Amino acid sequence: MYKDRIRQPGLERKIMSAQEAARLFKNGMTVGMSGFTKAGDCKALPDALAERARSEELKLTLITGASLGNDSDGVMADAGLLARRMPFQADASLRKKINAGEVMFIDQHLSETVEQLRGHNLRPIDIAVIEAVAITEDGGVVPSTSVGNSASFIEQAKQVIIELNLGMPLSLEGLHDIYVPQLRPGREPIPVLAVDQRIGTPAILLDAERLAGIVITNSADSPSTILPSDADTQAISRHVISFLADEVQAGRLTPALLPLQAGIGTIANSVLHGLLESPFEGMTMYSEVLQDSAFELLDSGQLAFASASSITLSEKMHQHFLDNIERYRSRLVLRPQEISNHPEVVRRLGLIAINTALEFDIFGNVNSTHVGGTHMMNGIGGSGDFARNAHLSIFVTKSVAKNGEISSIVPMVAHVDHTEHDVDVVATEWGLADLRGLAPRERAALIIERCVHPDYRDELNSYYTRACKRGGHTPHLLEEALSWHVRYQHNRSMLP
Ligand code: COA
Repeated sequence: MYKDRIRQPGLERKIMSAQEAARLFKNGMTVGMSGFTKAGDCKALPDALAERARSEELKLTLITGASLGNDSDGVMADAGLLARRMPFQADASLRKKINAGEVMFIDQHLSETVEQLRGHNLRPIDIAVIEAVAITEDGGVVPSTSVGNSASFIEQAKQVIIELNLGMPLSLEGLHDIYVPQLRPGREPIPVLAVDQRIGTPAILLDAERLAGIVITNSADSPSTILPSDADTQAISRHVISFLADEVQAGRLTPALLPLQAGIGTIANSVLHGLLESPFEGMTMYSEVLQDSAFELLDSGQLAFASASSITLSEKMHQHFLDNIERYRSRLVLRPQEISNHPEVVRRLGLIAINTALEFDIFGNVNSTHVGGTHMMNGIGGSGDFARNAHLSIFVTKSVAKNGEISSIVPMVAHVDHTEHDVDVVATEWGLADLRGLAPRERAALIIERCVHPDYRDELNSYYTRACKRGGHTPHLLEEALSWHVRYQHNRSMLP
């Protein structure tokens, strides 16, 4: 019945229901699931496991590629299934549990998770659950819309369950390039020398003995919820593009730029969308996620090639992608997140990394994860993998949040994800500060002049001037440095 999808003889007898598969799990197990920013996530096991956890003691450590779709993270969190979760999430219910201290969340660079598993720094994976579009004649698992950590999960897990999704077209086969670094010592360099280079195999090898079950599903990824560009994100995009145009003018970049990486979310998508109106041609992407904007640029011909670990699209763009896979096939590759985000490759290729900050401070330290310094938003994701190693590390944000009650540029960030040493350029809708080669005092003056909302500029200037009088390489008034955050806690406003 599934001849074109289950091609290895004898495997059809492993087909089981999600409920039967869920019974293989034991309290306290570590589970690796496919899924990366809502793409290629398991569609059946999260619900089946949550159902068990509602009526019996079942708590798991759940490791994925990144965030899951279909509200799965929320469903599992609400059922009390998740004891520990890593390395990324973006779900409102799970976020609440994390911030209440009920789920232990390990916020981790996305390139590092499987390296830590491989080095036995984390408890081994008991069961891997991986969405696939097919199992090949020789036992190769063909992933769907993301690769994420699936290759290493399959390699390392004691048992593997495949969710075979009939709703995902077989034409996805051939898009993936599976490569897993060797064990140390003696590991060889990762041979990605160009964005479009394939270095691995089209499927993930799995020996049939460890295949515990195949669960048939038939549902789509949940669509991305990014918002369309607005006046502020368009202004941010214009500043970034004009900066890049100046770099071309100065001879530091060519009109093809260098491979682009763009972070998740509305703002980064909008910056990339703005490239449609730019003069750049023959651009490439070496990113972890491809959002709608990447496909707009592929369609316009300005983007020659895109490499990533997942494809996360709006409903309309998802359909457009599926209808036109053959057109994209020669210009697209999906890699394990360890390779899409690998510091070695990011540094070698010389990426232009564009990620979003929740807030940054006058010296260019960036907080991407902790609202008010304490409450987890989503996680660092791949932003650290890219920012530290990129040729140019750019952070963007709107200058204010929550209707102007929060300034996204503060005297001192209340949590640091990216230190000033990893940040070359910051931009808001007001302007862009090129921090390269500047000392902290120079950085502060430029950031306040270019990036801060006028409602907060005078107060930030006053803070910095008074701090300078006290001296220091990085002047601060320590008793006041976090006072803007404290004021927001008390007044729901940072406004003076
Ligand atoms: N303080 C408190 N909240 C803030 C804030 C600040 N300084 N700045 C923004 N926010 C809030 C916004 O109000 C919004 O809240 P809402 O969801 O209640 O409306 C939310 O953060 C998202 O901000 P938005 O302006 O819509 O930006 P975005 O969709 O581009 O997301 C991040 C921004 C930082 C949350 C997102 O990019 C992220 O999670 N980044 C970390 C991971 C990452 O960078 N990965 C990159 C590799 S893919």
